[in-house]
Amino acid sequence: MKEGYLFKMVHKPDWMLQVIDAVPASSAGKDKERDKGYVKYQLIQQGVRRRELYEATQDDFIRMLITDEGDDLIASGTSTQLTTIEETETSEWPVVSEIDSEKEPMKIISIFNNKGGVGKTTYLYHVAHLLAKKGKKVLLVDLDAQCNLSAYAITDKELEQSWNDRGNSIWNIVKPVYERLGDVRNRKPTQLRDNDNLFLVPGDVLLSNFEDTLGNTWSSAKGGDLGDLRVQSAIYRYIKKMAKQIEAGIVLLDLGPNLGALNRAVLSSSHYFIVPISPDLFSIRGTRNLGDKLVGWHKEWNQCKAACTDESIDLPVGQPTFLGYVTQQHNVRSNKEGMTKGWALFGDRVHDAVQANIVDKLKNLDQVYEWKDSNWNLGKIPNLHSLIPYSLEARKPVFECSSKDGLTGAHISSARESSKFFEPIVERILQVVP
Ligand SMILES: Nc1ncnc2c1ncn2[C@@H]1O[C@H](COP(=O)(O)OP(=O)(O)O)[C@@H](O)[C@H]1O
Ligand SMILES: [Mg+2]
Repeated sequence: MKEGYLFKMVHKPDWMLQVIDAVPASSAGKDKERDKGYVKYQLIQQGVRRRELYEATQDDFIRMLITDEGDDLIASGTSTQLTTIEETETSEWPVVSEIDSEKEPMKIISIFNNKGGVGKTTYLYHVAHLLAKKGKKVLLVDLDAQCNLSAYAITDKELEQSWNDRGNSIWNIVKPVYERLGDVRNRKPTQLRDNDNLFLVPGDVLLSNFEDTLGNTWSSAKGGDLGDLRVQSAIYRYIKKMAKQIEAGIVLLDLGPNLGALNRAVLSSSHYFIVPISPDLFSIRGTRNLGDKLVGWHKEWNQCKAACTDESIDLPVGQPTFLGYVTQQHNVRSNKEGMTKGWALFGDRVHDAVQANIVDKLKNLDQVYEWKDSNWNLGKIPNLHSLIPYSLEARKPVFECSSKDGLTGAHISSARESSKFFEPIVERILQVVP
């Protein structure tokens, strides 16, 4: 049993056991309790450390007791292989197999709301730049046919090039899968303005063709059709491969505002998701569909996984964890009570709606991140008013805009200081993706 070894339970693909310390029997003699040696390991579920456990061992024999919804599952084995499973009350025993000895650190985070214009793209763009500044290599994927993120992040020329037959737009990546001529293309993303840490897979209006295919192949994928399971997991498999190739630790996905087949495929491919919300009736009502859909998709992905007979197909877990919501204030409508009052009117309702429609529903499925303070409000982004058009024009985040980009007077310092609104969110993300 070696330190760092990672094991996956075949029937519980989102669970992993990682050995964090292993002391063989011979060298553990001083401590009577540990006469037999011991292995300390952690139980990781969907990349989140759930529990740290401790087991006495005989030689390098290990016995692990894992309680899953009341059922005791015991895995045991020797050396670097967990093979035998002891019997308890459960009829079906998980087979435990070893996977890579290296932990896969990459995390995919979707920024999503089924309501448009809530500031998803702007938020993602700013957060990505701050993460890059902190030394994280970030891969951005524009999965919205509107391509707003691409237009913000790269030049028109680069965007047009990405749409060429030889280009790297997301449509060009998946086209062979759409045409049933092959697998995803291995084209490298576009680097952002000489920034070594930021890369973008440009969006493409033609991606809607692929969305149709995703819609048409969903039932047969759930029935176990291997070709269609490959279609459903195509974007996920490309993201994983490319993140590894460019060594990105974080992948941020920008999604269009709907609950269609494309968003089902990519949200289900995400480890986490964040919901930007504006304090209005539409956003509040939208959280209801969002929660319900995610519950349904969880079930349906389980069907896909259960029906898949080919282990070589890398299917996503299909259980994105809710990290929290971000309140956006730029589109708070002025009313006779004034904007602040407008926020006050809806602020509590946003909180309550998130709690009832997302947190309460997904908690049962273990798809809610458990922050110590149980606060899923990850931050508030104020109205940045006219700084935004400067930022769009300069293709830079607001906090990097200066007089060179046309800012004058007090705008220069307001722009620079605007990073403070995004910092707390970035800190939270870094807690999840260290
Ligand atoms: N914090 C902000 N302050 C002012 N305007 C903003 C802010 N965030 C976004 N906007 C503007 O609001 C509009 C919608 O934002 P966008 O990020 O494109 O939303 P979404 O991706 O949810 O559709 C855009 O015109 C954008 O420039
Ligand atoms: Mg957008």
